[in-house]
Amino acid sequence: MANLSAVLGVGGGIAAYKSAELARALMQRGFAVTTVMTEAAQEFVRPLTFAALTGRKVITRMFAGDGPDDVLASSVEHIGVAKENGILVVAPATADLLARFAHGLANDFLTTLYLAFEGPVLLAPAMNTAMWNHAATQANVEILRRRGHHILEPDSGPLACGTTGPGRMPDPERIADYALSILTRRRDLDGETVLVTAGPTREPLDPVRFISNRSSGKMGYAMAEAAALRGARVQLVSGPVHLAAPEGVEVIPVQTAEQMRRAVLDRLDESTIIVKAAAVADYHVTSVPKQKVKKTALRLSLELDPTVDILAEIGQRKKNQLLIGFAAETENVVAEARRKLQAKNCDMVVANNVSLDGTGFESDDNEVILALSTGELITPPRDTKRALADRILDEALKLRLALHQRS
Ligand code: CTP
Repeated sequence: MANLSAVLGVGGGIAAYKSAELARALMQRGFAVTTVMTEAAQEFVRPLTFAALTGRKVITRMFAGDGPDDVLASSVEHIGVAKENGILVVAPATADLLARFAHGLANDFLTTLYLAFEGPVLLAPAMNTAMWNHAATQANVEILRRRGHHILEPDSGPLACGTTGPGRMPDPERIADYALSILTRRRDLDGETVLVTAGPTREPLDPVRFISNRSSGKMGYAMAEAAALRGARVQLVSGPVHLAAPEGVEVIPVQTAEQMRRAVLDRLDESTIIVKAAAVADYHVTSVPKQKVKKTALRLSLELDPTVDILAEIGQRKKNQLLIGFAAETENVVAEARRKLQAKNCDMVVANNVSLDGTGFESDDNEVILALSTGELITPPRDTKRALADRILDEALKLRLALHQRS
């Protein structure tokens, strides 16, 4: 059994408030959490918040002070804390912390602990977009990545500084899931090549407009991340989304259904498992005008043609690959899952009811039904998309074994 104990290093960034939620998310997954805060972090959140949440001491300084509420570090405490804990999770990892880790500075408790820590390190950077894109930060991230640390790249979106771009700390639940899979990781996908599609497609109406759908790409990205961490080589064909590339995953960006189809077919033969989580547009405009369509007082109709069903095409062409399709439904979920399983020659269809609150398109949680080609129906409890991704892979590997044993 892995040592489910974590040091949670909190840096001084606005995202520090999310670290309190991260402490809880880690504890919900069975971690004992010891929090270490930099001096700057304490400007954003009080140590008491973490002490109350984790029920453990919070380390706020390197050397003993006189304050009655100081929870003090003894002269060798960084060694003890480093030895006792299974993983070091730093969130938010500020530009300053990344620089100090990269260059081996040891000028406070967290950086000293980092040098003494021999286990896995998971860093969740969060900062202003310009700071993240700065050559110095990128060079430091590269050093840390080459050192073997896990970096959860920041998501894109509106930032506290008023700009929009990469810099947001990933969702605490996702960081906690990631920490758990690092410590409990199975390398059961070593040697596999997994092809994942994710996100929506965009079908142009004219040079400035398109039809698309509400898919966020989260489920597909979670599948890609989980497969990579389990040892697979992962290629992720992605429609336009705001998510950062998962660690160790090759992302192939596409826009239209036809581009997605090409990217998938080009990689089909080398893949052993194919996961079609993308919400592919079912129709595209028959002929896209070269110039912007002008407004007139008259009613406008669009002529649409169906796109090629990529999943069904793979179903026809596949040899030994395990094919996992998805089905987004608003009613008759099981019947539709079984129908698509057969019609598209899949081995598994992961179906969800996208009309349920708190699950489906933009949410971090999901509630799915797995319909298998053996006739079996699996209904895992509602969970985070990242945790469900691992469950889907578990069931896929079991299914492949069962299918091999039958043939
Ligand atoms: N899919 C695909 N190519 C398309 C349309 C869908 O590969 N042109 C795949 C999706 O990636 C998903 C599965 O088919 O894995 C089911 O998608 P969904 O939209 O639920 O089903 P459809 O077959 O499009 O049926 P409907 O929209 O009528 O429910």
